[in-house]
Amino acid sequence: MDFFLDTANLDQIREGVELGIIDGVTTNPSLMAKEGIKGEAAVHAHYRAICELVGGDVSAEVISTDYDGMLREGERLAALHPNIVVKIPCTKDGIRAICKFTDELGIRTNCTLVFSLGQALLAAKAGATYVSPFVGRLDDVSEDGIALVRDIVNIYTAYAYDTQVIAASIRHTRHIIQCLDANADVATCPLSAILGLLNHPLTDIGIARFLADYKKVNG
Ligand code: G3P
Repeated sequence: MDFFLDTANLDQIREGVELGIIDGVTTNPSLMAKEGIKGEAAVHAHYRAICELVGGDVSAEVISTDYDGMLREGERLAALHPNIVVKIPCTKDGIRAICKFTDELGIRTNCTLVFSLGQALLAAKAGATYVSPFVGRLDDVSEDGIALVRDIVNIYTAYAYDTQVIAASIRHTRHIIQCLDANADVATCPLSAILGLLNHPLTDIGIARFLADYKKVNG
């Protein structure tokens, strides 16, 4: 399973990349706003900066909601860097735009804000490179986000769709372990959730014991 960082924060991306286990980055308009990035020129510069830091795919989301706007914006985003994947919401115009990007423009896409198997089916049929089911937001309304990831992976496998499943809206380390069990292609996570995987009291106790034993002999 690949790890993407779900952030637009350059320090966190740098820290994740230094760790050596980050395969890409996903962003959304909320995450860009959180970093205070405003205006198209600043947004584009920020995406270029992210692409320079990380080796893998970087999802950049359109804010247009109409087909023509999505095409215009998506083409500009895709031209910024070869690793940019245009992130498009799962709406009627969005699915139409994904078809156009896939079939005619050779632009890779991430179909986002996916909350049902039906939406994931349309994303795959449109030829999206990635689909992003939102695990945490489904859990927030008492649905089972991980079950949706598992269902999408099973259906895509059964029908041999190429679209890769990014488990998104990951909130904690337990979600990451559940994504593994659901065979997600990618989990896009906050850095804190990934670093949380390191935590185990027996590791800390083990290090303390090894050091104490070493000091007994070496002083
Ligand atoms: O990748 C989508 C993700 O950023 C949404 O996460 O925590 O806002 O539901 P969240």
